[in-house]
Amino acid sequence: MSRRLGCLVPYSLAVLLLSGLLFLKKEATPAGGPAARQPFWSPPGPRRSPCAPNRTVANVSLSLPGRHRLFLTYRHCRNFSVLLEPSGCAEDTFLLLAIKSQPGHVERRAAIRSTWGRVGGWARGRRLKLVFLLGVAGPAPPAQLLAYESREFDDILQWDFAEDFFNLTLKELHLQRWVAVACPQAHFVLKGDDDVFVHVPNVLEFLEGWDPARDLLVGDVIRQALPNRNTKVKYFIPPSMYRARHYPPYAGGGGYVMSRATVQRLQAAVEEAELFPIDDVFVGMCLRKLGVSPMHHAGFKTFGIRRPLDPLDPCLYRGLLLVHRLSPPEMWTMWALVTDEGLKCAAAPLPQLRGAG
Ligand SMILES: *[C@@H]1O[C@H](CO)[C@@H](O)[C@H](O)[C@H]1NC(C)=O
Ligand SMILES: *[C@@H]1O[C@H](CO)[C@@H](O)[C@H](O)[C@H]1NC(C)=O
Ligand SMILES: *[C@@H]1O[C@H](CO)[C@@H](O)[C@H](O)[C@H]1NC(C)=O
Ligand SMILES: *[C@@H]1O[C@H](CO)[C@@H](O)[C@H](O)[C@H]1NC(C)=O
Repeated sequence: MSRRLGCLVPYSLAVLLLSGLLFLKKEATPAGGPAARQPFWSPPGPRRSPCAPNRTVANVSLSLPGRHRLFLTYRHCRNFSVLLEPSGCAEDTFLLLAIKSQPGHVERRAAIRSTWGRVGGWARGRRLKLVFLLGVAGPAPPAQLLAYESREFDDILQWDFAEDFFNLTLKELHLQRWVAVACPQAHFVLKGDDDVFVHVPNVLEFLEGWDPARDLLVGDVIRQALPNRNTKVKYFIPPSMYRARHYPPYAGGGGYVMSRATVQRLQAAVEEAELFPIDDVFVGMCLRKLGVSPMHHAGFKTFGIRRPLDPLDPCLYRGLLLVHRLSPPEMWTMWALVTDEGLKCAAAPLPQLRGAG
């Protein structure tokens, strides 16, 4: 008895070891897709950074807040590699949904995938493509989870730069590069945050009348915005970083839609521009250079829904295109309400969907 057991232990150990090795080997070969570029077990620790900080800038910007100094010190670093990547767009992709997320926002991504970001009947037969745009952020969640999401849902686009508010412009730049290669055929691109609710049928109805070969950037357009000069505010911009009195007109970063023509023209402009830390203003600057004026539409509520209106009134959503900020439970609730065929709304006229509001 004990002799048989004695044989069995090393035997099972060997089997375990072998299957473990086989498993690793299987994972190590890229499974046909570019998604497997980053082995899932590699630690998220310090990465080789080929781009050296600009010490001269660091020295002359000593009076600025730390984050601004960090931004200026690394502003010239614009080439970061892709860590995780979804498959490219299908030939007949109508609308690319490019959603800014962060590694830790697992629940927000889950909520979007299972509600408005879902492909199917809600999209009126139009082909959608959903991708989440991510940087790198610390050890949590473990890299394994992102790699799992990437394999399971094929919608993670992650680059090797630090997740930071001031690095959102890097997301814009790298998204443009990815679209140029993997999704140039999409008729329209919706760029937004991972806490917006997008009423996809209303967006599609609005876009129905637009030729993707014509310039269009539509959203919640802010005009004559003043750069914030208060050092304590997140959006603080010192005159040394932006001298003019006003920002150019720009669409609030919570969500806006661009036509293929505008995306293509932006690609070149974004490559040439010096990076600016606020991404939606940065896009506004590029648009101004291109001579494209962003179009305002009242159906984009990037500052949320204000009282006395009820932000969870599904009838309100029937006339809107995009609403900022919903938590995952609110997202699911709104989805259930908006898609409820039996929903009875008061006969109030809906806000106009077409044209500038
Ligand atoms: C920046 O300042 C440090 C300390 O004052 C100094 O040693 C260094 O030479 C300076 N670097 C440049 C590029 O000016
Ligand atoms: C570093 O910053 C200085 C001052 O802004 C600038 O003149 C120089 O071109 C920068 N160097 C790089 C490599 O970007
Ligand atoms: C980034 O890549 C482009 C094109 O490959 C190159 O021209 C540029 O010098 C690179 N920039 C940096 C900071 O490495
Ligand atoms: C942006 O990402 C780069 C690369 O990871 C990093 O060096 C830099 O500090 C980040 N910028 C900010 C403002 O955090």
